[in-house]
Amino acid sequence: MKKINIAIDGHSSCGKSTLAKQLSKHYAYIYVDTGAMYRAVCLYALKNDIMKDGIIDEAALIDSLDNINVSFNYNDERSISETFLNGVNVENEIRSLWISENVSKISKLKEVRQKMVSIQQAIGENKGVVMDGRDIGSVVFPNAELKLFITASVEERARRRSLELKDASLEDIKKNLQSRDYDDSTREENPLVIMDDAIQIDNTNLSIEEQFNLALNYCQKAIYG
Ligand code: DC
Repeated sequence: MKKINIAIDGHSSCGKSTLAKQLSKHYAYIYVDTGAMYRAVCLYALKNDIMKDGIIDEAALIDSLDNINVSFNYNDERSISETFLNGVNVENEIRSLWISENVSKISKLKEVRQKMVSIQQAIGENKGVVMDGRDIGSVVFPNAELKLFITASVEERARRRSLELKDASLEDIKKNLQSRDYDDSTREENPLVIMDDAIQIDNTNLSIEEQFNLALNYCQKAIYG
């Protein structure tokens, strides 16, 4: 069977990673959550006082980039791929609102992006990768055989996210999503864009299964022609 790279981009909290995980399982492909990589860098910066009160010491962060090792390990019990920062499992910590509120400032930095993109491209060299993020179809894999752009209304995304983040209010979550959408789409380095060759899926009114079946159809076409 021909192996392809599947690039999944889209807005924050729109179910990209749910879909990416389903597709990677279906095809036994490697799954890479690139947002988790930026989140792990953000955690490192916050924990090492490189980022304080929303302000980053950019020179210190750039100096530290070689000391930041982000990796993934599959947890059989939880059936998920977990994120490790310098060998420590940070999967839960990087999902907190604290990180969500700070990560855009980290992910807009050119040097951080360059390092992450080169790691991501190396992973995709042999194909058979499903990667989700913001710049996968535009920068990481501009020649990906399949590019999907996922979105949903901000209200629906906030509702779904609030089911996971029990201690945050719906209004705070919605505001955070809106500001991240804005930051992602307007930043200078690798902004979130809809590529001409991407297939758009708005899943506001789709179940997880409906979205999966729709995407699977596109994958089958990309793989088998
Ligand atoms: O998908 P996420 O919410 O976990 O992403 C975390 C942050 O990283 C978010 O602000 C967008 C940014 N990001 C990015 O700039 N490029 C990517 N390829 C993935 C995420």
